[in-house]
Amino acid sequence: MKFNLEGKNAIITGGGSGIGKAIAIALADQGALVHILELNESPAKETAREIHQRNGSAIAYSCDVSNQKEVQKLIGEITKTKALDILINNAGIAHIGDVETTSEEDLDRVYNVNIKGVYNCINASIGAMKENGGVIINMASVAATVGISQRFAYSMTKGAVLTMTYSVAKDYLDFGIRCNSISPARVHTPFVDGYLKKTYPGREEEMFEALSKTQPIGRMGRPEEIANLVVYLCSNEASFITGTDFPIDGGFIRLNG
Ligand SMILES: NC(=O)c1ccc[n+]([C@@H]2O[C@H](COP(=O)([O-])OP(=O)(O)OC[C@H]3O[C@@H](n4cnc5c(N)ncnc54)[C@H](O)[C@@H]3O)[C@@H](O)[C@H]2O)c1
Repeated sequence: MKFNLEGKNAIITGGGSGIGKAIAIALADQGALVHILELNESPAKETAREIHQRNGSAIAYSCDVSNQKEVQKLIGEITKTKALDILINNAGIAHIGDVETTSEEDLDRVYNVNIKGVYNCINASIGAMKENGGVIINMASVAATVGISQRFAYSMTKGAVLTMTYSVAKDYLDFGIRCNSISPARVHTPFVDGYLKKTYPGREEEMFEALSKTQPIGRMGRPEEIANLVVYLCSNEASFITGTDFPIDGGFIRLNG
């Protein structure tokens, strides 16, 4: 079977919702044991329940990726008896605003999850990957490359995700660890629904259409489309790929304008 992940030990952050949930399910469908790290345990448990119903293997944990002690303790336990094969840094949060309307607290909040969270998880995992090699995938965004308007802090953090990816890929080449990032344009998840509800109350449908059209392909992505790319990048079929960012964006970066 191609894209086989049978027996692989995988960690995914933010696997209780949206893109992360789809990735957790897709990895388990290919045979991986998936450890789901979530801010609150209940959405992680719900994803694990769905995976079990599909005869897959998953365990749910509550863990705030921005808290280094918590991350080190948990990942230390997960990797105590079994080496780690796959780490997916997916958890992320957004903030709307330009440089003037982004406060220091806003900047720190987004930094702590989107940058420090990625650092914390790689830092805690890489030792358990060094012996047998492995795969790290970081969720960046088209914002990392083009800088989306009114997303000052978010774009900044996703730019850092991109460069952390290149740096880790280079430093761990000799250990057989491949590190890549994925840059989606808008994907229809609770992240987007929450934004529309908060920012355009009563106009959600109209704005959903407008946001859909910002992708030249005419719609938002689906979480499963991102998950399929993750499965490929985690598999042996992608063994020649490291230190690269993969836009999956309906033409957003290259075809707009
Ligand atoms: N949806 C999009 O349009 C889009 C586009 C480009 C990139 N992304 C990126 O993809 C990733 C997933 O986005 P999504 O749309 O599925 O979001 P989502 O809000 O649906 O899910 C994110 C999950 O991360 C979890 N999380 C947040 N902070 C956490 C923390 N400190 N510790 C542990 N878990 C935490 C949340 O509880 C949530 O379950 C994010 O990194 C986001 O920036 C999303």
